[in-house]
Amino acid sequence: MEKEVERLKKRIKKNKNLPQHIAIIMDGNGRWAKKRGLPRISGHRAGVKTVKRIVRVAGELDIKFLTLFTFSTENWRRPKKEVSAIMELLYETTKKEIDELCRNNVKLITTGRIDELSPRRRQILQLAKDKTKDNTGLILNLALNYSGRIEILDAVKKMIEDVDAGQIDPEKIDQKLFSRYLYTKDLPDPDLLIRTSGELRLSNFLLWQTSYTELYITEVLWPDFSTFDFYQAILDYQKRDRRFGRIR
Ligand code: IPE
Ligand code: IPE
Ligand code: MG
Repeated sequence: MEKEVERLKKRIKKNKNLPQHIAIIMDGNGRWAKKRGLPRISGHRAGVKTVKRIVRVAGELDIKFLTLFTFSTENWRRPKKEVSAIMELLYETTKKEIDELCRNNVKLITTGRIDELSPRRRQILQLAKDKTKDNTGLILNLALNYSGRIEILDAVKKMIEDVDAGQIDPEKIDQKLFSRYLYTKDLPDPDLLIRTSGELRLSNFLLWQTSYTELYITEVLWPDFSTFDFYQAILDYQKRDRRFGRIR
């Protein structure tokens, strides 16, 4: 197996058209736990291990941006116990991993309404961002308390303010300008979107940004998502013909 993984890595490197930005809907933690008769939070804990693995491997491959859907605004609808367990796991993991992120030259950023998290959680994320801000390797973007529709509405509201203040001319609003009002203004659109555990939907993730993103959906549950699975997704992407509406 080890050899097979190395072989895939070599093939990816040889292909050259590496995706610059990979986004992942990390789904299936609950099902993973249920299958084992464990509480859902065990699934989330196992999911953190996969996050560490994929961050390391993405960095080694020289992927520039990795966006992970970590918590959606809709996820607040889950039982209080699960929500607080996820939030606590986020806090603990961020705190524990800051040094490792630095060792791996990873820069941490977030996307979403972070201001709605508790002060303690906001602070630890801020500390991690500050400590990693000069790192030049992988940019790890955690989509947290994120909703694609709310992001678009936030952009519209900000834009209206700027129109009212005379800072932008409504006639000049185009796709490029609009993108600059999104949370993701500093990131290119994702080239590849991976969703684990088989659901065929976007679940309100990066609605604007994924207009021409290549989709890859696997049945593998997030805690089981291996380096091999990740390489397979990238290799599949490298075979795609991205036409952007043109013909070839
Ligand atoms: C993804 O796993 C993690 C979050 C949404 C926070 P789920 O918890 O959604 O797992 P399933 O879909 O119930 O299996
Ligand atoms: C999407 O997964 C959100 C995250 C992975 C953080 P969900 O499990 O919340 O999506 P739905 O509810 O099945 O669409
Ligand atoms: Mg789910």
